[in-house]
Amino acid sequence: MADLTSSFCSAQPRLHIRSLNRTNGTLRSRCCKVRCVAAPAQEVTTGVKRNENIGKLQAGYLFPEIGRRRRAHQEKNPDAKIISLGIGDTTEPVPKSIADAMQKAAAGLATLEGYSGYGAEQGRGEVRQAICDRFYSHVGRKANEIFVSDGSKCDIGRLQMMFGASTSVAVQDPSYPVYVDSSVIMGMTDGYDESSKGFGKLEYMVCRPENDFFPDLSNARRTDLIFFCNPNNPTGAAATRKQLEELVAFARKNGSIIIYDAAYAIYISDPERPQSIFEIPGAEECALETCSFSKYAGFTGVRLGWTVVPEQLRYSDGFPVINDFNRIMTTVFNGASVVAQAGGFACLQDEGFKEMQELVAFYKENAAILRTTFKELGFSVYGGEDAPYVWVGFPGKPSWDVFAEILERCNIVTTPGSGFGPAGEGFVRASAFGHREDILEAVERFKKEFGGR
Ligand SMILES: Cc1ncc(COP(=O)(O)O)c(C=O)c1O
Repeated sequence: MADLTSSFCSAQPRLHIRSLNRTNGTLRSRCCKVRCVAAPAQEVTTGVKRNENIGKLQAGYLFPEIGRRRRAHQEKNPDAKIISLGIGDTTEPVPKSIADAMQKAAAGLATLEGYSGYGAEQGRGEVRQAICDRFYSHVGRKANEIFVSDGSKCDIGRLQMMFGASTSVAVQDPSYPVYVDSSVIMGMTDGYDESSKGFGKLEYMVCRPENDFFPDLSNARRTDLIFFCNPNNPTGAAATRKQLEELVAFARKNGSIIIYDAAYAIYISDPERPQSIFEIPGAEECALETCSFSKYAGFTGVRLGWTVVPEQLRYSDGFPVINDFNRIMTTVFNGASVVAQAGGFACLQDEGFKEMQELVAFYKENAAILRTTFKELGFSVYGGEDAPYVWVGFPGKPSWDVFAEILERCNIVTTPGSGFGPAGEGFVRASAFGHREDILEAVERFKKEFGGR
């Protein structure tokens, strides 16, 4: 076979391919027209075709794009002190007893007694049991149904791998972008449609103020999987018990599986709004739940989460889903870090649990400050009560324009609602994850710039 060396010409959409003729040692050159998606300056050295599903994705993942715009703004205004209410990363230190437990575990690794290698891929038994005792035993779940992981985002990817490309998917619109993007990457969707601002084949379940941010299930198409994030990122809406009963009834009627993302469940204080989908009878036959210590205990960098797959959850042929999830975890995952698991275990002990709740209460106070300010300024404000996100409406304005205006006028980074789905257009999300002084400074800037609007 001839060796191929080729180069993209950036000026013209043509691909020059030079191939080496091994018999006479001469170079042949061909030129053909290509669709120039990007124009890498370097020589192409592989013959590997790009995964065409990744090619369907739009303009990169939302948060890197926000980061790019933030950097551009900072370059233009080098003295600006930018405050981020954007990505939703935690800012406060990990509580003391939890950090101490991790320190001890890390120090133990340097000793014969404290050293451990590969752990169980499903997580340490005591950690699974402690998660179960704190959050799930009262709703009938068992420790063997809990899989400890390096976080919910990673579990979502592994769940997609488990269900495979031929499943159909519904998402709340707007929602955490990972559900849509991972479905696109897996090949569960068609291409992006510019007019609807969505991907073909994907069912977008619109959640807006008009429907109390809960999808109109009487008009929703049946899909195999339903991603349901509660409380919702980005709208901050937490579903009532009645709404979740409706969701479970809908899934059961259609034979669908709900992938319930409870990453912010601990932020729910209203007793009428369940923290786990398993509070709804019958959910164990149509739902699995993923959750994380990221927004509970500031573990966004530590990395620890879990997914609960009930034994009763079955595929259409009766095969238990838990067996396949176990197979996936033991195949492409090697167990969460022992240091992180020591931290997770400490989160679930009385002292750590109390510290964790105090941390959550701190962020909830931030949310209340933001919420009150936007209300006082006369904006339509949603969320921020049972969630760390405040969803602010700017009717009729494109959300990237609002994002740009806030950045320009206040030096504050928010997240444009349209980045979470077409129904997010006209909104921006403000995250309550921030130091108190930054939140207070941010609200002063908002008052100054938008007080008179
Ligand atoms: C709804 C939702 N699910 C999952 C995650 C990811 O969590 P983790 O840090 O455990 O991967 C996030 C992070 O922002 C999120 O907003």
